[in-house]
Amino acid sequence: MKITDDILYVGVNDHNIDLFEGQYVVPQGMAYNSYLVKDEKTLVFDTVDRNFGEEWFANIKAQIGDGPVDYLVVQHMEPDHSANIAAFAERYPSATIVSSAQAFVMMKNFFGTDYADRRIVVKEGDTLSTGRHVFAFVSAPMVHWPEVTVTFDTTDKVLFSADGFGKFGANDVEDPEGWDCEARRYYIGIVGKYGPQVQALLKKASSLDIRTICPLHGPVLSTPEEISHVVKQYDIWSSYAVETPGVLIAYTSVYGHTKEAALKLKEMLLKKGCPKVAVADLARDDQPEAVEDAFRYGKLVLATTTYNMNIFPWMRHFIDHLTERCFQNRTVGFIENGSWMPQAAKIMRKMLENSKNLKFCENVVTIKSALNAESEAKLEALADELVK
Ligand code: FEO
Repeated sequence: MKITDDILYVGVNDHNIDLFEGQYVVPQGMAYNSYLVKDEKTLVFDTVDRNFGEEWFANIKAQIGDGPVDYLVVQHMEPDHSANIAAFAERYPSATIVSSAQAFVMMKNFFGTDYADRRIVVKEGDTLSTGRHVFAFVSAPMVHWPEVTVTFDTTDKVLFSADGFGKFGANDVEDPEGWDCEARRYYIGIVGKYGPQVQALLKKASSLDIRTICPLHGPVLSTPEEISHVVKQYDIWSSYAVETPGVLIAYTSVYGHTKEAALKLKEMLLKKGCPKVAVADLARDDQPEAVEDAFRYGKLVLATTTYNMNIFPWMRHFIDHLTERCFQNRTVGFIENGSWMPQAAKIMRKMLENSKNLKFCENVVTIKSALNAESEAKLEALADELVK
């Protein structure tokens, strides 16, 4: 696939993966993108996952035959992109490896060598010419590892954005939900903790005239509308702003009574005009999807049971996912259920006490086993407070 006349796609699609990064289900597979620049000098951006080395080499060979590759630019050392560096270095012995100082330290750790005799160490502001193209390197620490470099082709105005602007899903299947949904789940899950660093990168990017974005996952973004849309989405996500007005009700339920309360609250909220109510069963639904929704909507209701003097494990797990991703700027309500000593609301609130700028709803719903008139009235009061 051609990106421009002399920038070609040589990446691969993975439909065998069970869990991306060991934890994310990817029903539409995953793409590990790689790009070949056929200039006076030949350059490749990033390798691919370990299971796809031969396919990747074949893609390169299909473009340049037995010709040499002069440079391999390593933008990110996470193994979904770096696994084939050693194999590449062996197959293309005259190639120079171009990367950040920290990435070469990681190469030593992964492969036992830092390619000291055949490397160029680049930092922010350095450039590399392949003839027609001049590539400028931009440091992007923690987007999503510390060694990350993104690269701007100053000639054709292409941003090679590493994990930035990537999404779940292989490139050979049409995502029926478009870019946003799986890009959001990817961003919040994987990069969500690093909002300030993404903001810093967006600030640097705002001074560039970007006409194409080539990420390491997901589709190439090449129209002005696509580019301005994804930059806008990244700005919302990385500043922890509310993307969509609405409420996520995230619940766990052992015997169905807490679920009943969660669904009743949904019904009440919709009746009262809440624009959108999403509901997640944290034991059965995809947790990263629920985490994504918690960051998407402005309000969150957590409903769970007291369990072993704590809260139900899936809720604890969920709140940990929120706090480790710097969950902030939201309104949070609580529903607790406990047959003899309910204390889940207090525990959940404590788990969130160090999160920035959270507003806790005054109406806490306590259910003692099953909803009754009193707890339903409290639920109604919570619904009123949420739509106010
Ligand atoms: Fe796609 Fe952070 O690796």
